[in-house]
Order: sequence, then C-alpha cells, then structure tokens
Amino acid sequence: MPRILVVDDEEAIRLGLSEILGEEGYEVATAESADKALATLQDVVVDVVCSDVRMPGMDGLELLGRIKEEHPEIEVIIITGYATVSSAVDAVKKGAHDYLSKPFELDEVRITVSQALEKKRLRDRTQRLERGVKARHAPTHLIGDSDSFRKVLEMVDRIAPTPSTALILGETGTGKELIAREIHDRSPRASQMFIPINCGAMPDTLLESELFGHAKGAFTGADKNSQGLFEAADQGTLFLDEIGNISLSMQSRLLRVLETGEFLRLGERKVRKVDVRIVGATNADLKQEVEKGNFRQDFYYRLHVMTIHLPALRERTGDIPLLANYFLEKTAARFGKTLTGFTEEAMGALEAHAWPGNVRELEHAMERAAILASSPQIQWEDLPADVTEDHSVTLPVDPSQPGKSDGGSLESLADLEKAHILRVFEECNRHRGKTAEVLGINRRTLYRKLIEYGVEGEPGS
Ligand SMILES: Nc1ncnc2c1ncn2[C@@H]1O[C@H](COP(=O)(O)OP(=O)(O)OP(=O)(O)O)[C@@H](O)[C@H]1O
Ligand SMILES: [Mg+2]
Repeated sequence: MPRILVVDDEEAIRLGLSEILGEEGYEVATAESADKALATLQDVVVDVVCSDVRMPGMDGLELLGRIKEEHPEIEVIIITGYATVSSAVDAVKKGAHDYLSKPFELDEVRITVSQALEKKRLRDRTQRLERGVKARHAPTHLIGDSDSFRKVLEMVDRIAPTPSTALILGETGTGKELIAREIHDRSPRASQMFIPINCGAMPDTLLESELFGHAKGAFTGADKNSQGLFEAADQGTLFLDEIGNISLSMQSRLLRVLETGEFLRLGERKVRKVDVRIVGATNADLKQEVEKGNFRQDFYYRLHVMTIHLPALRERTGDIPLLANYFLEKTAARFGKTLTGFTEEAMGALEAHAWPGNVRELEHAMERAAILASSPQIQWEDLPADVTEDHSVTLPVDPSQPGKSDGGSLESLADLEKAHILRVFEECNRHRGKTAEVLGINRRTLYRKLIEYGVEGEPGS
C-alpha cells in the first residue's frame, strides 16, 4: 500500500488531507513540522511527502532540499497558499513533483498524488532494471530425456507455481543456475526480475549491503543511499548461489527475511517489506554441514522444503548424445561451420568419460571440438585429452610400462594382455563395441590399447 506523509503545522490541513488520501486507499502519516517529518522518514518507508511551504522552524523548501538529498527515492508535493505560489514554482524547479494550492480541489489532490506515485513507480522500476541488467536472460533450452532429468523437470513444474523457497543440489556444472531460471520462468513471477548472486564469493558486510542495501554514510565509501537486491528482486526471484558458504550470522539474518519478508537497509532504522521468492543452490552436503555445526538447522529446514537434486552427468549417460549434439550445433552455428555429428569412437569416448565438470565440461569440450574439427564429423582426436584418456582402467597393468619378454617362454602380463585383446578383437570381427563388452573394459580403454598396438591408427578409419 502506498504511504503518504502529510507535513503541515495546521491541524485542519493534516486532517483534511489524511481523510482524502485515506479514502484513496493510501496509508497516511502526518507531521506538524519539518523536523518531525525528517524523524519520521528515518523510521518508516514513505513514497510521497506532501508538505506545506510556510511552517515555523524549517520551511517546506528546506525540507524539500533535505529529502532530495537524504531520500531521493521519495516524491515531494508542495502545498501552497495564495501568498506562496512563487515559492511553490521555485520548489518544482528544485525537484518537487508538483504543487497543490489551498483550498484544495478534491480531484486535484487525487490526481497529483497518483501521478507522483506513478512517477516513483517508474523510477523504481528503472532502477531495478539497471540493477538487473545482467539478470535478464534468453529463454533457456533444457536438454535431457533421461528418467532422472525428467524427474527434475517434474519437480520444476511442481515448485514453480508456489511461492515456496526452493533448494537445488548438485555437483558443479550440473545446471543448477539453469534450473533456478527455469523455476522463475515457469512461475507467475516470470515477468519480474530473476537476480542471481554468488554468496560464496563475498565477505559478510559486502554480502549484507548487496542483499539489503545501505543508507548514505552507513560505512566508509557508502556515498549514497543504495537499494539492495532484495528490493530489486521485489515480486521476482532471488537466486542465492553457493548458499552453503554463507556465515552462520548471515544465515540467521536471511532466515528472518524469509520468514517475514522484512529487512533493514544497512544504517537505516526503517523496516522495508518485499515479496521475493528465494531459490538457493549448493554443491555442498548441507545436511552434513548441519551436523558439523556449520549450517543452521532452522535455516536448513526452511530451505529444504522443496528440494531438487540434479543428477551428475555420469548418472544419466543417456543424455550425453543429446547434449553433445546440442552444444555442437550451437557452436557450429556460431562459427558458421557445418558439422553433422560424431564418429562412433568419438561418441564412445564421450559416453565413457566420467565428466567431473558435468554439463559445463561437456559444453566446453564440444566448443573446442567444433572449432578444431576439420571434417564434418567430430573425430576421436578432436576431443580433449582428459576425455579420451582413461581414468578408470580396469586392466591390472600400467600400459606405459610395457613388460619385457626377455626371450624364453615366459611372457609378460602386458604381452599376454595384448595377445588376448587382439584375439578377441578379431573374433568380434573387429567390432570395437562388442570387443570392449566381451573384455569387460570400457571402450575408451580399448581404443587406446588398439592405438598403442598400432592396430588403430586413425579412430574411425
Ligand atoms: N540440461 C541442460 N541443457 C542445456 N544446457 C545445460 C543443461 N544443464 C546445464 N547446461 C549448461 O551447462 C552450463 C553449466 O550450467 P550451470 O551454470 O547452471 O551449472 P551449475 O550447477 O550452476 O554450476 P556451478 O555449481 O559450477 O555453479 C551452462 O552453460 C548451462 O547453460
Ligand atoms: Mg552455478
């Protein structure tokens, strides 16, 4: 509800305006002097001040100056009698929204105040947009068809329409931020701001001022009043990334905001209220952090209401070809290249890799491959070394130390292994997938061995 502060030394004017504005549905406060008005502004959030010009003590023009300096977000309307019309005009030049002349016309009061409110709304909105430039985003394309990913999307659909806090868990690069955006996009808040903030990267005081804003002079370097992200995200969604890293004291402060929607800007006494949906994300095991005393249990329960667990890429290998092709096409389009897909070897390597960096790692690998590719199909050697390299060798022998068979009838394990692999390879009609299966090793390991033996020079050949 919009809040109006009426400042006039005449009680009749205060009462009269309170009544008119109250009927318009505004919350009205009054002050009988400029000093009292400034005191009130320290404690309550006000949208518009209507002030008389001539008052004992500080007059209306001086009050206007103080408000413009200390509370630039407030619109001021000057109330003027016949004798003070020229100072009212002066006031408008100095930044007042407009003036009202006594005696009042009902409609004039209504219209002037509602215009001032509209002006303020527009300015707040602009400020929010400026604040959130980085927060606007292109529609997300969520790729994935595996059961576990479908379950994620089902949860998104269940969470999105509610105002509830949501928590997204998953290893690095699994798409936590993407899912947070999706929750926002599918929610009734979609037309408002989605603002991400990385909580892990900031000391407490900075995080606090980022989230809650600050008053001019609240700390060294705070040279003007500043809105925080909670205000910027009003009606929208605030994404608290790496929420597992915030301090215990910030946790309790955040918990209070989550419970009441109310907070203070740093260095201010007035309570502000917002309606913000919080989505948190972490790759930490919060439950364990609670047990260790690093995370508040009450805060955890508050966040934990709706939880989405994003599976690691290696837990949904079925999505690898979809994602790989998606990223390949995206990069190809960007570089104006024509790429048609992957050789069997290349795809085998992609499917066998453990992807510790998950989707992000795959995305980067595909960008690199698309750039390096010299033929329409991505080859095994277009992939990064750590993708084609084997991390999970199932064979007992270190292939970089080929055993020596020093004559005689004793064979080294490496020689035995080579002979065995080649025999199975021939028996499987040189079908690599089948060979790997029979040998019980992954395909990547097999490719590397075949190359080592000189059987497989060029993958795909
Ligand atoms: N299902 C998906 N479909 C398409 N792109 C995806 C998908 N999941 C993740 N990505 C892409 O992978 C990259 C990493 O995703 P995101 O930043 O959301 O991960 P994260 O879990 O927040 O990672 P971190 O923990 O490192 O912050 C982004 O470029 C994102 O667009
Ligand atoms: Mg992230």
